[in-house]
Amino acid sequence: MTDITIQDGEFARLSGKVVIITGGSSGIGLATTNLLLDLGAKVIIGDLQPPVTPIHNPSLTFQRTDVTSWSEQLALFKKAREIHGRVDHVFANAGVGPRADYLSKTVDANGDLVEPTFVTIDVNLKAVIYTATIAVYYMREEQQTPAGGSIVVVSSVAGISRFRATDYATAKHGNLGFARGLHQRLNFHELPIRVNLIAPSWTKTGFMPYPVMQSIGVEPQEPIVVAKSAAFLMADESRKGQMIHISKGRYREVEESIMLPAAEKVVGVEHGEVMEDDTLAKIIEAMGVFKKGAVAS
Ligand SMILES: NC(=O)c1ccc[n+]([C@@H]2O[C@H](COP(=O)([O-])OP(=O)(O)OC[C@H]3O[C@@H](n4cnc5c(N)ncnc54)[C@H](O)[C@@H]3O)[C@@H](O)[C@H]2O)c1
Repeated sequence: MTDITIQDGEFARLSGKVVIITGGSSGIGLATTNLLLDLGAKVIIGDLQPPVTPIHNPSLTFQRTDVTSWSEQLALFKKAREIHGRVDHVFANAGVGPRADYLSKTVDANGDLVEPTFVTIDVNLKAVIYTATIAVYYMREEQQTPAGGSIVVVSSVAGISRFRATDYATAKHGNLGFARGLHQRLNFHELPIRVNLIAPSWTKTGFMPYPVMQSIGVEPQEPIVVAKSAAFLMADESRKGQMIHISKGRYREVEESIMLPAAEKVVGVEHGEVMEDDTLAKIIEAMGVFKKGAVAS
């Protein structure tokens, strides 16, 4: 894995940038909000609740937003443009813990198995797709400079490993799949919009009661450690389609250094096979329907 050293000086170019943060009122989102405000960025939080620690800074806007609502997310982006005229970076961070039990035996009045809840998948995956889709639309409309805009999606170690909280793991794997697919599409259409992921390990936030973590001997990392990885991916214009794993303050890039090489190994690229996406590109070309720009314009 490729270790990354994040120096505070690397964030300087975020000064004056307009950043939308979903779930920016607590934990990782709040730490990112504070970090960006300190750097001179303008932040618009979309969250169900105002910041759990009040922030008095004219560069901060809070808009009550339920990310599972398409219209509320549209309103969030509209608000950002109304106030600041553009959107430079988007942090798709709002999330909830596991809710569904796929081994449930709960039945309704008719004795039929009760449908499992989709809350976690709606907040952690569907709403992230909403956020990124609106972000791409806005950033394209704004005719970004070649530096373009960026989207950072919060996945998790649960998105790259076996994890028994099944709905949560499904959503976090989905974040990875979505960001990978979107990265390929953005590249194909040569749009100056970067999409990257972060995969934090246990972090001290509203997610898990800290005393419980302590009681089992796990010391979670501070949310500012994770916030720095998000700011880094926004600031470093060379980062595209990457995923940073953050554990105990150590930052490692995993998509290009481990996951893609692993996929290539499975496919057998070293024996002359081609990756599925390369074949898809040829199919698209051969069909002649999806010319560059045609599907996305
Ligand atoms: N804490 C960890 O150990 C950890 C590890 C890996 C990934 N993550 C991810 O980090 C992200 C941030 O979580 P956190 O740990 O900072 O937790 P947190 O509970 O402190 O913050 C989550 C924020 O999301 C907001 N939110 C929840 N549902 C929402 C909705 N429908 N609409 C708008 N806002 C909503 C909450 O109000 C809260 O402010 C999540 O996506 C989580 O899955 C957390």
